[in-house]
Order: sequence, then structure tokens, then C-alpha cells
Amino acid sequence: MNASAPTVSAARTARLVGDLATSRPTYRALADALRLAVADGRIPAGTRLPSERDLTGPLGVSRTTVTRAYDVLRETGYLTSRRGSGSVATLPAGTLRRGTGGLFPADVADGVIDLTCAATRAPAGVVEAYERAVARLPAYLCGAGYLTHGVPDLREAIAQRYRDRGLPTSADDVLVTSGAVAGLGVVVRALLRPGDRVVVEDPSYPNTVDALRAAGARLRPLVVDPDGWDVEEAERTLTAAAGRAAVLIPDFHNPTGALMPDEQRARLAHRLRTTGTTPVVDESIVEVDLDGGAAVLPFAAHAPEAVSIGSSSKSHWGGLRTGWVRAPRGALRSLVEARVSGDLGAPVLEQLVLAELMQRSPGLTAERRTDLVASRTALAEALAAELPDVRFRVPRGGLSLWCELPVGLSSTALTAAAEDEGLLVAAGPRFAVEGGLDRWLRLPHPLPPATMTEAVRRLARAAERVRSGRAAPGPARVARPGRPLVA
Ligand SMILES: Cc1ncc(COP(=O)(O)O)c(C=O)c1O
Repeated sequence: MNASAPTVSAARTARLVGDLATSRPTYRALADALRLAVADGRIPAGTRLPSERDLTGPLGVSRTTVTRAYDVLRETGYLTSRRGSGSVATLPAGTLRRGTGGLFPADVADGVIDLTCAATRAPAGVVEAYERAVARLPAYLCGAGYLTHGVPDLREAIAQRYRDRGLPTSADDVLVTSGAVAGLGVVVRALLRPGDRVVVEDPSYPNTVDALRAAGARLRPLVVDPDGWDVEEAERTLTAAAGRAAVLIPDFHNPTGALMPDEQRARLAHRLRTTGTTPVVDESIVEVDLDGGAAVLPFAAHAPEAVSIGSSSKSHWGGLRTGWVRAPRGALRSLVEARVSGDLGAPVLEQLVLAELMQRSPGLTAERRTDLVASRTALAEALAAELPDVRFRVPRGGLSLWCELPVGLSSTALTAAAEDEGLLVAAGPRFAVEGGLDRWLRLPHPLPPATMTEAVRRLARAAERVRSGRAAPGPARVARPGRPLVA
């Protein structure tokens, strides 16, 4: 038996299946529920299902019922069973695999609304910050400008921000990079070798999944539910994977927006430690705390061995292309060594600009927060009015709503039809580690309220065309290699 294969517990499987009371034979209802869970990515392809015997208790059905349901799944391509490996969830040939190639904002024609990117325009004050930074530049011009660790004032401002959040940090622990994705690249080079097992959340930020794959990592999905982490299941996944690293987005997770509570952080930190797995924590979105609430400690406050990755793209502006890595005590040197094989430092001027901006507002400005809340409200209200059968939660923070489409409405088909209506949006499978999630759609809300309302009108028209069979089927039109999803 492959001990490291991801598994799903019988208890969680029963929760996913839900109530089986139905007019159909029970085994059929069970097979349908499991098929939907696999197709949706709630049981990711490659996950070993509980044994037939183990499932009978939590489901309250006979072994024959489970056996017949598993037979149906095997016949329809959703399950393979091999001696020694148990029964493993699969996606039938022809099912949408993980989407590639989102949509590239630069290609947008006039009048098209682009919601492929969960990032905002620059806040007020950026030009003034550039002016002040230019005034400080001469002090750096007598040096070569290769600041492999980063501009000292910025490193100190970043360290101060961690201290403010309750995590003792010195500027010596901080490495400035050209954004969080570049920071992840440094961490991947420093930490991983081809073939290493890496746990990654499912769904997750697509560029993270791509970067890990490109590094030759063997990915083990850790499922994030629409409302957050099933911590018992996550602990099981971490134990089964015994991975080299686990990449987590606990602060307004992209795409669900979920915020991991402290108690869950502490439990997962403990399990990561006992399994020898290094936590790699992407905190790019932590400052987009729109509603506020009880403060949550940085993950590294629970896991001193964690490597944290940060970014100014969401808190200030993506055009600064500035982010950072916070290393565990004494580990910065190995990160700097890994960094120089990719680049020799981030631009000095942009680092000075960010230091200026952080001095005035370390996170989101009040004005930006008000704008984002208004856009989110417009999006939620328009969805309720125009697409009432689309379900979503409004998370405390983040830049998107993670929407569940009604059964039968494919996210891929919908996004393809939306493009014809002048709306660009990334389909659910783009966020999957392996495949599935075609009943999910990420709707970012970075644009003004009136634009968000219009976007939903276009989406509703697209949904109407898909439902009435007037739209071209999605999968054939959707692959756009080479057009990356940005944020
Ligand atoms: C989780 C996550 N990480 C990284 C990024 C990109 O960060 P950067 O612009 O700093 O490279 C994003 C942008 O959406 C993100 O959501």
C-alpha cells in the first residue's frame, strides 16, 4: 500500500455525501454523491477512499450498498482499485483536468470587464511616495545597487510590521524580493529537490501550484472547504504525506477568502513539526482585512520553523513588484544563496517607495478598504438579484467571492460564454491542484461598484445562454496556453 497517498477519512466522506434519503436506490444516491465530490475536487483525484467496511458505520448503510456504489464509480471512471493500493478517486478520460492559461489583462479590449485579476489599481499617494523616494535615491547611487538582501529601511519596516502583528522579527530575518511569486521561487529553490512531496492546498493560487510542479514536486492536495480548513482532515493529510514542505495561505486564502483561526494554526503547526514538514506560508493577502475582527497571529508565531512570504501587491500596489521572505532564525543565508541564482536583488527605487508608503500606512489605507467593501457589497447584491441560485459566503477579507454554481452549470462553459458577453473571469478548475472544481467560480471585486454590477449582469446573460444550450460548449474554447492568470 502506498502509505503517502492522500486519503480521505470515513467521517469526512460521510459529511461530504450528506443525507442519502432519496427515491433512488441508496447505492445510486451514494455513487452520485461521491462522483460529485470527486468531480468538484472536494475529494481530489488521486485520493484513496475509505475501505468499503470503514464507510458502512459513518454512512449507516450496508456493506453491499457501498460495494455497489464503488462498482458504479469504477464503471464510470471515477474510481480505480488496485491490490495493495485500495480504491483511489480518478477523473474519467475527457473530464476537465486542471485548467491552464487564464486570461492576460494586457489583452483586454475596450469595454471588456476583466475579473481574472484579484488586484486593484494604485491607491492615492503613490506618485508622492515616488517623489520622496527619488529624493532619497542619491544616498544609494555611490554603491553598485545590488542589494541582495534588500534596502535596510524597508527590511526594518517589514520586520516592524511582523512585530506589530505579534511576531518578534529582526530586519536580519527579512529578504526583499520582486513580489511574493518571486519569493516563492526563492523558497522553492532553497528547499525543494525534484521528487520531493509537497502538500498544497486545494483549491489554491494557480501560480503557486505551477511553480511547485515546475520544480518537480509531487503534490499532495490538502482540501480547503469553502468555509475553511477541516483541521482533522488536514492533520491526516499532513501525516500521510510526510512532505518536505506544505504551502499554506491561511490569511484570506485565495480563492476561498477563508481565515484560519489561531487554534487551527496551532494544531497544524504541531502536526507540521511532528511530521518534519516545513511550513511555507503565503501571507500576500493578510492586509486585506476588510471587516476587521479579532486579531489572528501570523502562522510563524505558532511555527517558528515556518518560512513566510509577503507582498505589497495587495496592501499597496502590484506595480511596485516588491515582496519579501521572512526566514526562520538563522536561515536567511540559505535563502540569499538560492536567490542569487535567479536574480541579484529587487529595484532600489521601488523598495524606497514601499518604505515610504509603509511609513504612512503599513497595510491597506482606510480609503482603499472602504472602496473594496463597497465593491464587494455591489457584487454580492448583484449576484443575489441576478443569479439567486449561485451560493457564496462573504469572507471577512480578501479580494474575491468563491461562488458555488448550481448543479449542471459548468464554470468552464460559463466563463467561455461570459467572454462573448465581454466579461473575463477564471473558471474553478484553474484553482484545482489536479482537476475538478468545475462547479466553482472565483469572482474578484477589485473594480468600482457599478462595474461589478455590470459584470454580474453579463455573467447572468452568459448563464442564461449556457442553460438554454445557446452557448458553445466551454472546454473546447477555454485552454489558452501562454496567457497566465496573474493574481
Ligand atoms: C496567494 C497569492 N500569492 C501571491 C500573489 C502574487 O503576489 P505578487 O504580486 O507579490 O507576486 C497573489 C496574487 O493574487 C496571491 O493571491
